[in-house]
Amino acid sequence: MAVLVQTLSELVDSRRVLITVGAGGVGKTTTAAAIGVAAARRGKRVLCLTIDPAKRLAESLGITSMRTEAVQVDLALFASAGIEVKAGGSLTAMMLDTKRTFDELVVRYSSTPEKAARLLSNKLYKYVSTSLAGTQEYMAMEKLVAVKDDARYDLIVLDTPPTANALDFLDAPQRLIDALDSSTMKWFVQAFESGGSFSLNLVARSAALILRTIGRITGGGFLEAMAEFIGELNELFGGFKERAARVEEALRGDDVAFVLVTSASPPSLREVLYFKERLAEAHMPRGAFVVNRFHVAPPCVGAAVSEAEAARGIASRGVTLEDDAPTRLVRAYEDAVKLAALDAYHVRALSASAGTTPIVRIAELETDVHDLIRLGELGAALMSGGI
Ligand SMILES: Nc1ncnc2c1ncn2[C@@H]1O[C@H](COP(=O)(O)OP(=O)(O)O)[C@@H](O)[C@H]1O
Ligand SMILES: [Mg+2]
Repeated sequence: MAVLVQTLSELVDSRRVLITVGAGGVGKTTTAAAIGVAAARRGKRVLCLTIDPAKRLAESLGITSMRTEAVQVDLALFASAGIEVKAGGSLTAMMLDTKRTFDELVVRYSSTPEKAARLLSNKLYKYVSTSLAGTQEYMAMEKLVAVKDDARYDLIVLDTPPTANALDFLDAPQRLIDALDSSTMKWFVQAFESGGSFSLNLVARSAALILRTIGRITGGGFLEAMAEFIGELNELFGGFKERAARVEEALRGDDVAFVLVTSASPPSLREVLYFKERLAEAHMPRGAFVVNRFHVAPPCVGAAVSEAEAARGIASRGVTLEDDAPTRLVRAYEDAVKLAALDAYHVRALSASAGTTPIVRIAELETDVHDLIRLGELGAALMSGGI
């Protein structure tokens, strides 16, 4: 049994792998990076596997689009951001490169280097390895398994792909395998390989089916390329399936936990709650909820703010604003109060079903979180239980 934790900070101390999941745009990548910074600060050797960092966030971590290998953040950068890193602590960041991970697998699992080379140069391979739905999620898991036991790291924080729906992360690998392994595909290869003994009509029908399964591919020589490709991939099917099972098993480990990131909006909360159920069904441990970008009530909630007060406030600062500034200020204040009350109300649903899982609320900051200073602040907030 995994040790029960009361805080995200305990989770960081007791787990080896943390995976941030949640709906698109809620702050998975940011939370993963901030946890990475916070853990490094505590003296852990952290590997942060990130997927779609905003350009400025990637730059803060030393990742550029040209580099896909792991890069360790220079300790001097932490120092200049005012972040004191305990002796031994380090943060290594790495951008997940789906195609490269796929290429590495093909090379490893092909029976001969020639077969691997043939597959890698296949026209359809490029499409499947980069654009087929689910590939990115599957490869994120593959990468995780590859680095999970790397003795150079104490903690691995895995960010998940920017899918619209958090559940895609759990379902996509199986969908990918199903698509590649479908009987339609196999039947199609056989029909094609039997050379001449099939009717074009049948080929056209099965091609249409396949197109529906894997998406639209344009360009000439499709059928030939498809048959060759599937033939080549066929021998890897066993390998992929077995690995998917291993990946799933690894995710059930006591040393793994999911950090479910959400906003306070009802759709995002619903999704994360549903995800929680799915994790429980799959016996995959969840670790903590992070309600990110939570709207905090402005000071003096409850007391109505009048326009006269707002006008006095403006005057006392010695600034000259437009005539309607007091009215707008009062409205903005009232909106902020309402927003905070709404967020608090919505999060109650989460508290009611979270059970013993900690919930950390993180305030909506005034700016995006792109530099080490902000990541440090966010990391500290996450570790201290949020607001
Ligand atoms: N607490 C926060 N306050 C303000 N901006 C935030 C906060 N958390 C994240 N952001 C910003 O929100 C945007 C989306 O975050 P990101 O981590 O990329 O989301 P995801 O990975 O879930 O798609 C980024 O520009 C990030 O800087
Ligand atoms: Mg992201």
